[in-house]
Amino acid sequence: MPAAAPNPPADRPSGRDVARPVVFAIETSCDDTGCALVDGAGRVLASVVSRQLAAHRPYGGVVPEIASREHLRNWPPVSAEALERAGLTLEEVDVVAATRGPGLVGALLVGLSLGKALAYGLGKPFHAVHHLEGHLYSPFLAPPAAAGGSAATAAAEAPPERFAGLVVSGGHSNLYAVDGGRVETLGQSRDDAMGEVFDKVGKRLGLPYPQGPHVDRLAEAAADGGTAGAGDDAPGFGVAALPGLDFSFSGLKSQALNAIQALERRGVDTDLSTLAPGAPAPPAVGRLLAGFRAAAVAQVVGRLTRLHAERPMGVLAVSGGAAANRLLRRELAAWAGERGVELELVDLAYAGDNAAMIAHAALLRHRRGEADDPFAAEAESRLDIPA
Ligand code: KG4
Ligand code: ZN
Repeated sequence: MPAAAPNPPADRPSGRDVARPVVFAIETSCDDTGCALVDGAGRVLASVVSRQLAAHRPYGGVVPEIASREHLRNWPPVSAEALERAGLTLEEVDVVAATRGPGLVGALLVGLSLGKALAYGLGKPFHAVHHLEGHLYSPFLAPPAAAGGSAATAAAEAPPERFAGLVVSGGHSNLYAVDGGRVETLGQSRDDAMGEVFDKVGKRLGLPYPQGPHVDRLAEAAADGGTAGAGDDAPGFGVAALPGLDFSFSGLKSQALNAIQALERRGVDTDLSTLAPGAPAPPAVGRLLAGFRAAAVAQVVGRLTRLHAERPMGVLAVSGGAAANRLLRRELAAWAGERGVELELVDLAYAGDNAAMIAHAALLRHRRGEADDPFAAEAESRLDIPA
């Protein structure tokens, strides 16, 4: 009798119980180096993201040259860890995918070149994935398993034939209509994206990069204290009067920056660079941030109301880094609940940039019979989702 094969570690899927095809994906569009393996059922076998916070923090934002170099440095350990967690070798991968754009060209080139070379070397099909297509379908990924359970997530939900998509990130605020895999862009950022204005307002206050989560937390602390909107120094923020479904946040950004300056003229210390972790902002600054956040969220909800009036939606899928915003998540749940719209809100694990969403989008493309020539795929800093 042949010796029994050693059991795989309990917290890892074995090569035998994964659904085919297994997609190996790379995401390097901005400052996060991501590698993930997703199986044919849309189960996330592993998703590793290495953030470059320390490298960019001295500059208050992402420095493209540094991002490219960091991706090169991070890739070997990140990919090794993803394969290790999935319990698979590169030879056991069936499909290779990488983000081709939009994003920072130098950063994209690192991941895309790796993906092309791997697909060619392994003789596997290749998918050059649109970054926003990754975000768009990310709400259908199952949340990561609770600690102690299997390392793999549950199967992904099949995206419905038709749904409305909202992607709010550091580079985009976009509304989409998806119908049978065809993606139509209905609205987009006219100027700064939602996450970008949170970053810029936070940067003006000396908060560390990325500033969006800090601004959200400080606004939440102020709002929780019941002080939002109270007092004569609470600025009222107007929502951009732009008609239609495009987004514009630069007016709101200017209002916030002017309001910060007005506080300073009155002697309020607005420098939050030395704020202890978890500490609230001075009350006047907290109120300002709560008002700013409420106006940003109101614009997003307002666009959805307009869209729903024009073309009623059954399902709304919301994704992107700024979809982590706590007020936005609460307001969207209320908005969708009142209208009987089914809300698919991206899990926090997949809101920011990650490669699981790229692998998942590649799997959906693969099932539709699409594939790319690894020699022809090019990195693009600006790119519309192909209809
Ligand atoms: O999707 P993502 O990781 O990268 C892009 O594709 O841009 O989004 C990052 C953006 C940053 O601007 C970050 O500040 C913002 O998402 N962000 C937030 C929050 N968490 C992340 N913005 C507002 N509230 C948050 N809680
Ligand atoms: Zn993104």
